[in-house]
Amino acid sequence: MTEEQAAAGTPEEVAAGPAGEQPSRPTVPEAVRAAAAVLESRLAERPVVALVLGSGLGGLADEVEDATRIPAAELPGMPVPRVPGHSGAVVAGRLAGVPVLVLAGRVHTYEGYSAAEVAFATRVAAEVGCRALLATNAAGGLNLDYDPADLMVLTDHINFLFDNPLRGGPAFVDLAGAYDPGLRAAAVAAGEAAGMPVRQGVYLAAAGPSYETPAEIAMFRAWGADAVGMSTVPEVIAARAHGLRVAAISAITNVHRPGGTPTSHAEVLEVAALVRPRFRELVLAMLPVAAEA
Ligand code: HPA
Repeated sequence: MTEEQAAAGTPEEVAAGPAGEQPSRPTVPEAVRAAAAVLESRLAERPVVALVLGSGLGGLADEVEDATRIPAAELPGMPVPRVPGHSGAVVAGRLAGVPVLVLAGRVHTYEGYSAAEVAFATRVAAEVGCRALLATNAAGGLNLDYDPADLMVLTDHINFLFDNPLRGGPAFVDLAGAYDPGLRAAAVAAGEAAGMPVRQGVYLAAAGPSYETPAEIAMFRAWGADAVGMSTVPEVIAARAHGLRVAAISAITNVHRPGGTPTSHAEVLEVAALVRPRFRELVLAMLPVAAEA
């Protein structure tokens, strides 16, 4: 333990908050357990893999077999998307033969939620027994070798959200090797087998909701980031705190080139739709590997 950690207290003391403080509402673990109890009572089978679907991939939730769909509003404490037209739900059932819990309608910190709220559903998934998290997102390419419609498996991340889902505990979770090497290798192999090369790179989560300035792009690139998005990192950190194996894939919807074209949400959605079939194929190929062990 470093001196700094010793001064801060044990992880349990840090999680408990300032001495003498009486919580007026349930602690995060209590709230997670309460939502998990409601969810569990509705599940026919224990899910093994939690799937977080990003922009353009939501359709996979409709492919779940023997699906039980539970609106987020029926799970106490579960945040609901503030984007019009997205109700938010968890869908339990089977995909590629694997018992899954699809967290459809993820929320983002740019909607005004804290990283802890964003990660709430992931913690509930862990509580009901999921052992792996597979997250997807749309991202802008920073690596100049990338092209729009590329797929990228995350090797690591940079948290530039100015928030962390573990504020309030548990503290000091190790994030080296957060992105499971076995799952990454499976993604690359599945991509090769299907004739769709998969990039491997570092994802930077920016707070948004505005897109990045040219100066930010230059800085993020200098920091070693290959892609920039506005999601995924809260879910990944929470999943690691709960010991889940993690894999994440980005659909590169646009590439930030010096002197290039402006970024637009319409372009992001358009390219995400183009990538969807390959993205879907990759996720389905990874699910059985994620379900192992
Ligand atoms: N920046 C941030 N988020 C994104 C981008 C981007 O360029 N493209 C898709 N999501």
